[in-house]
Amino acid sequence: MKIFFNQVQLTGIFFLCFLTFQIGFSQEAKPANHESDIESILKQLTLEEKVALCHAQSKFSTKGVARLGIPEIWMSDGPHGVRAEISWDDWAYAGWTNDSITAFPALTCLAATFNPDLSSQFGFSLGEEARYRKKDVLLGPGVNIYRTPLNGRNFEYMGEDPFLASTMVVPYIKGVQKNGVAACVKHFALNNQEHWRDVINVEVSDRALHEIYLPAFKAAVQEAGVWAIMGAYNQFRGQYTTHHELLTKKILKQDWKFDGVVISDWSSAHNTDEAAINGLDLEMGTGTDGLGYTTENHYDHYYLASPFLKKLKSGEIPEAVVDDKVRRILRLMYRTNLNPNKPLGRMNNKEHHDVARKVATEGMVLLKNEDNFFPIRDDKNLSIAVIGENATRSMTAGGGSSELKPKFEISPLEGLKARYKNASILHTMGYHSGPSEYNRVHPSNLDADSLKHAAIQLAKKADIVLFVGGLNKSHLQDCEGDDRQQYGLPFGQEALINDISKVNKNVGFILVSGNAIDMPWLNEVKAILQTWYLGSMAGQAIADVVSGDVNPSGKLPFSFPVKLNDNGAHAFGERSYPGDGVNQYYKEDILVGYRWHDTKKIKPLYAFGYGMSYTNFELSNISTDKKSYAKNDTITISCDVKNVGDFEGAEVVQVYVGKPKSKIDRPLKELKGFSKVKLDKGSAKTVLVEVPIDKLKYYDPSISDWNFESGSYEIYVGNASNAIFKKIKVTID
Ligand code: GLC
Repeated sequence: MKIFFNQVQLTGIFFLCFLTFQIGFSQEAKPANHESDIESILKQLTLEEKVALCHAQSKFSTKGVARLGIPEIWMSDGPHGVRAEISWDDWAYAGWTNDSITAFPALTCLAATFNPDLSSQFGFSLGEEARYRKKDVLLGPGVNIYRTPLNGRNFEYMGEDPFLASTMVVPYIKGVQKNGVAACVKHFALNNQEHWRDVINVEVSDRALHEIYLPAFKAAVQEAGVWAIMGAYNQFRGQYTTHHELLTKKILKQDWKFDGVVISDWSSAHNTDEAAINGLDLEMGTGTDGLGYTTENHYDHYYLASPFLKKLKSGEIPEAVVDDKVRRILRLMYRTNLNPNKPLGRMNNKEHHDVARKVATEGMVLLKNEDNFFPIRDDKNLSIAVIGENATRSMTAGGGSSELKPKFEISPLEGLKARYKNASILHTMGYHSGPSEYNRVHPSNLDADSLKHAAIQLAKKADIVLFVGGLNKSHLQDCEGDDRQQYGLPFGQEALINDISKVNKNVGFILVSGNAIDMPWLNEVKAILQTWYLGSMAGQAIADVVSGDVNPSGKLPFSFPVKLNDNGAHAFGERSYPGDGVNQYYKEDILVGYRWHDTKKIKPLYAFGYGMSYTNFELSNISTDKKSYAKNDTITISCDVKNVGDFEGAEVVQVYVGKPKSKIDRPLKELKGFSKVKLDKGSAKTVLVEVPIDKLKYYDPSISDWNFESGSYEIYVGNASNAIFKKIKVTID
């Protein structure tokens, strides 16, 4: 019997098939349990094959077992985009033409959104791009705590507060891993500077370790179920952290029950016995290149290669040690490249661009806005002088291992020119960041004086100056491998801003950076917009906010000290930062960031959690559900937020908790909850923030565990760490 379908029915069938295909392919990669498969594979492996699985075969891949069809594992940086393909055996790029990607904003921007939902979208989109690039492990996110404003890699991380970093890192990791790609949270642990990173031995108390430096890693493991973690370069209490008895063996694997893979940083493994016994599972990057001219770097000579095999064969190291590593590595494979349900991934699609733009616009922080300088209307009679190298300089290139090769990167100048159709946008470079390789080879016509002269001439005739400056991703700036050597702006910007402000009082600073900076020129500018490193959509996002199309709602994920020595890490001399070349003592202990400013009563230039809006919000009716609680209760804080200005916008209600008259040293207050609320102009909402009392424990070294102190507590509620609208006393027993 012939069955004919009319056009409508055929369309319907096609649509159903298409829908099934989409759902089938876009479903999250829910890995089943493969423990029995793992055991059966383990039984088939020779000792040589087991050892070969535990170390690199190339710069970014490890061997599979060809004989059994067990695949290689392929990894790629980085935390805010999939890095371009690297050569097999050296750091040169492979020159592929299919590896240009979406560059997302760096994670300091993501943290500044205080928006966990956005973090989930960020992680999922980035994971899709890693999957499409056939990467099984994405080497990110980085969550090392922002201890000093000089750390070259702060831009890659999530700020100074462990609660913020923990809350924002979990959805990111879950998002990445929904694609059948392992996130690899890094660098575990205490890698809080780049200077001497590969040798410095950090000394820090148990309390500071557990209360400040480990929480984001613990959340990654216990709440996000991260599938991989990367050891750090530095030492802690005299042992390399990548294979550390306390950190990787006891805390990570025994206490936290981490069932994934510990991957070394590149060249962070230093010892076969420690690597074997203290829990390093996958050794990468030892030496400079594995097939180098000197054989000691050869992949077969890695610490977890022939030296390991020899000790296994002699029985000096029991075979159970390598079996545990192989189980973890096979488990990683079943979660990634051996997962039959893994999605296809996607790359450079509109949804990813929209996520990158949304994170960028929501993460920007409006620090100053005198005379409602921002937003700037697009008026045909208006002339805007855009001055500064960062208006045109690529910020996806450089910075170290997180650098990217984006399909496109819209510069601030391009974004502003595209958005302002009526106003006239003038541009001059103003300053340049010194002789780059190119300039050394070609005599530079970028003479500082002529650039400054041109800038001042332009500023004289413009109505408004947008100074687009800050730091950049070159060495000794916001870059891996070393730290900044000054707190102030580099490349003559400070003098330039002062000279410009002499001829034009309408200066707004678009600050492109990933670290706090000194602002001696603060009174010379009317407005400052902290824009971070925003990736592919940078210029469009900046224009969105500058024009008022989007109302900024970012909050600072770290404090801006007025001067460097106001920061806790710099208050105790060189032994505390950067150390003496061998040892370093975190003498500020648990008082990191605003904890230091609050407790020592040192007013910051801009406070953690601070960020302005084009509208105004009123917080009122702030209360707790009870006045006294039991230890296993949850405190519910209620706060009405009303948008009383002329723009729709978003506010972040922040809840800090402190304990007066405590029997132990404590910061004045610590962030324990926050909630971002979007409000149309004139509208209001009641925001609820829940604080489980279990989260108010302190780490008690006398019992090597978390402990609770009964008594009275203060609940601080506001919209910045230094803008508390109400303090409520509660008792907990
Ligand atoms: C680098 C970085 C690490 C990166 C790795 C591979 O040294 O410390 O974050 O993932 O090596 O590039």
